[in-house]
Amino acid sequence: MKVLVVGANGQIGQHLVSKLQKSENHDVVAMVRKKEQADSFNQQGIETALVDLEGSINDIASAVQGSDAVVFTAGSGGATGADKTMLIDLDGAIKSMKATQQANVKRFVLVSAIGIQNYHEENHLDWIDRSSYYSAAKYYADVWLENSDLDYTIVRPGGLTNEQGTGEVSVSEELDFEKIPREDVASAIILSLENDGTIGKAFDITSGDTAIEKAIQSF
Ligand SMILES: NC(=O)c1ccc[n+]([C@@H]2O[C@H](COP(=O)([O-])OP(=O)(O)OC[C@H]3O[C@@H](n4cnc5c(N)ncnc54)[C@H](OP(=O)(O)O)[C@@H]3O)[C@@H](O)[C@H]2O)c1
Repeated sequence: MKVLVVGANGQIGQHLVSKLQKSENHDVVAMVRKKEQADSFNQQGIETALVDLEGSINDIASAVQGSDAVVFTAGSGGATGADKTMLIDLDGAIKSMKATQQANVKRFVLVSAIGIQNYHEENHLDWIDRSSYYSAAKYYADVWLENSDLDYTIVRPGGLTNEQGTGEVSVSEELDFEKIPREDVASAIILSLENDGTIGKAFDITSGDTAIEKAIQSF
């Protein structure tokens, strides 16, 4: 499967690109917004697409063209204001979904955030109230994708860490807030792409005690 990674220079993105490149079953295209990032991936033999998510849907669709699946793991990050949160985590995500449709590609994996499906419920997780713009952006990006005709999977990780992956997770429609290494999220994304049983599904994922492959298969 040829996979376009949107947010390839990000922390999950880099794990994902590296794992896809090493896999015998997949090819990868790293979508990045800066020429020096593209040069760095190219030097590692990785195909790139130079596109800014604040640009047009047509530009993103050109990058998607020829891939079998798109993974969106971009984000404006904690250091930017609400404007960039809306432009990247919400609008950038939905533009990527529209671009995927425009390029006649069906498979789309979205990295969202734990518990956001309960955004409008009173008993939602504490972090949701502390990050109001971000929470709204994540929630409505998920809803747009769920209402689309794309073959989607929504992966909702808990608090991300840079610890080495353990290969063991908990996967469920709803989990308590826990952390998870970015490397394990990247592995779960690839296993979701390889398992059509995850199409049309959304799951929370945190560190746990089940092998990632088994956790995804039995979800
Ligand atoms: N932090 C958490 O605990 C947590 C928990 C659950 C889910 N998440 C979500 O998980 C996802 C991945 O997290 P992460 O830590 O891997 O993110 P990250 O390291 O901040 O990476 C985000 C990537 O998005 C790219 N990006 C930002 N604006 C862009 C634009 N205009 N055009 C193209 N690319 C753009 C960034 O590019 P540059 O490299 O050029 O800056 C960066 O590579 C995010 O959606 C995040 O919201 C985070």
